[in-house]
Amino acid sequence: MPEFVPDARAEALREKYGFDIIPRDGLEVLIEAAVAAPRKRILEIGTSVGYSALCLATATGAHVDTVERDESKLDVAKKLWADCGASNSITAHLGDAERVVPELVKRHKYDFVFIDAAKSKYCGYLDAIYDFIDTGTVIVADDVNFLGLVKGGEYPPHKHRTIVTGMRRFVRAITDASRFECTMSDVGGGIAVCTKI
Ligand SMILES: C[S@@+](CC[C@H](N)C(=O)[O-])C[C@H]1O[C@@H](n2cnc3c(N)ncnc32)[C@H](O)[C@@H]1O
Repeated sequence: MPEFVPDARAEALREKYGFDIIPRDGLEVLIEAAVAAPRKRILEIGTSVGYSALCLATATGAHVDTVERDESKLDVAKKLWADCGASNSITAHLGDAERVVPELVKRHKYDFVFIDAAKSKYCGYLDAIYDFIDTGTVIVADDVNFLGLVKGGEYPPHKHRTIVTGMRRFVRAITDASRFECTMSDVGGGIAVCTKI
């Protein structure tokens, strides 16, 4: 595993915003997948305070485009990247991913995508990027077993129904062997690593 957290300031941020940052074990899966092949340009959907974007940029040397709808989180993220000397490697895009992602994939060729935003919208993100990515592009998605409710066919509790049904559709899509090679890991909230075939 390469060194991918360059500065103790990133770890301090994890202390403060940990609930909104990929868990450490999930991060290791993410970074392992990212460094498994050379990457030129990475798309991240869901920036929060910029922790995983920083790790992806640092570990791969690729440029990271990252999308977030909460401007106050992006302010924290931009300070982190500046403090860690990574501002030139990461471009933040403020706005709803449903609107921003279709524009980005038309403008840039991505060879690695990390999906970590609205849990009920993963299928929409996948549909938006699929035709624009090449065979061999890797997609990593976090929280694919949201609260342990996605696996199995049980009827989800009312308050999580939209997320769980949406995530089940997403899992069906990425495990379609005619489109992806996919491995799922139980770490964190469940993390999927898929390669377009
Ligand atoms: C789990 S956090 C991302 C964590 C980050 N990838 C990390 O590990 O450091 C999910 C983020 O997605 C953002 N988000 C949720 N829905 C979104 C949407 N529709 N468009 C853009 N961002 C969204 C949330 O504001 C939140 O900051």
